[in-house]
Amino acid sequence: MGRPIDVELKNITKEFVARGHLVRAVDRVSLQIADGEFFALLGPSGCGKTTTLRLIAGFEQPTSGEILIRGQAMQNVPPFHRPVNTVFQDYALFPHMSVLQNVTFGLEMEGVSGAEARKRALEALEMVRLPQAAERKPRQLSGGQQQRVALARALVKKPAVLLLDEPLGALDLKLRKEMQTELKTMQRQLGITFIFVTHDQEEAMTMADRIAVMDGGHVLQVGTPEEVYESPATRFVADFIGETNFLSGTLESRQDSRGCVRIDAETTFNALLGEEAAHEGRMGQEITVALRPEKLNLFAVDSKVKFPDGTSDSAQEYKTALLKDADINLVEGEVLETVYIGTDTRYTVRIGKDARLVVRMQNFGLRSDVYFERGQRVYVFWDYEASQVLLH
Ligand SMILES: Nc1ncnc2c1ncn2[C@@H]1O[C@H](COP(=O)(O)OP(=O)(O)O)[C@@H](O)[C@H]1O
Ligand SMILES: [Mg+2]
Repeated sequence: MGRPIDVELKNITKEFVARGHLVRAVDRVSLQIADGEFFALLGPSGCGKTTTLRLIAGFEQPTSGEILIRGQAMQNVPPFHRPVNTVFQDYALFPHMSVLQNVTFGLEMEGVSGAEARKRALEALEMVRLPQAAERKPRQLSGGQQQRVALARALVKKPAVLLLDEPLGALDLKLRKEMQTELKTMQRQLGITFIFVTHDQEEAMTMADRIAVMDGGHVLQVGTPEEVYESPATRFVADFIGETNFLSGTLESRQDSRGCVRIDAETTFNALLGEEAAHEGRMGQEITVALRPEKLNLFAVDSKVKFPDGTSDSAQEYKTALLKDADINLVEGEVLETVYIGTDTRYTVRIGKDARLVVRMQNFGLRSDVYFERGQRVYVFWDYEASQVLLH
């Protein structure tokens, strides 16, 4: 990773007893978050994101495991002595205080004097581009402005680590997108480590350097946005992040990292095997293949294939040329459904006996050039590495 580790979770478990039942909110989670990193905890509601954040903040104690911040064990360190600060979804501003008073409040609690507190608060408001709102009351501000005040209040204490629990959740979509970009820029300028909780995969992808995908208290995968999208570790991750086709088949044979998958009596194709050794025992068994819709291409069986340079080929010539490349998978199918969505068209294609694939084609040319009709026979082709065998 290069940079020093700021926050480390070592095999953290947190259990609650709720109405006589034991709930394991966080289950053996280990994470290393680097200094200055924008780190996202991503997963569906109830997967343990907030609990993980509260454990780092010190509002909860782990049932087992250890948390270190900047190398120091946090076990006996109360929340207000930890070099972290939290921004909540609901802002939690004091309604009777002005914006400036809201921001200076925390500093005054720490014994920072009036003039000094005021200077630092104004600097923090400057950072979130709200200095003109200093004397206003929270209710006189928009949702986005209130969220920025909450951010200023957290930043004014100059924490090493800022914890953000779905901070943009209450904003409408347009404002949310703006704040995503602003937050990302601000984080880069300040160099503060951000640990950002969200259930919105697009938000995590847009903002984070790395993402931890959680489900049922477990961390399923940690990686850059590209890694979790391009090489999902499990079916859950592939399904949660972006759109994915899942095909069931049996693993027939393999050569190095290339496996041959059979989906019915007539239809086979090649797929990428992740951990090669782990696949050895799965020969002849049921597996799932994940395949992203935008990695697939289509051309019609019974018409010419037009290229961007104005030339064209017969479908059979084009098919023969493609099949010379050993990395290409090509299957025949029938278009069952088309949905035009402006930038792209989504085609549902039946391949083999009765498998379905969603294919996403970008509408970069004239519409007539890229459009396929319901009932049309097509070839679907893709690079075999785009189809990945998932074990879990
Ligand atoms: N104080 C608590 N008492 C009992 N159960 C809790 C408590 N806090 C969280 N949980 C449970 O732990 C699980 C994870 O919750 P949480 O961390 O809030 O998830 P998320 O933030 O991902 O939605 C849920 O099943 C939730 O009901
Ligand atoms: Mg939560």
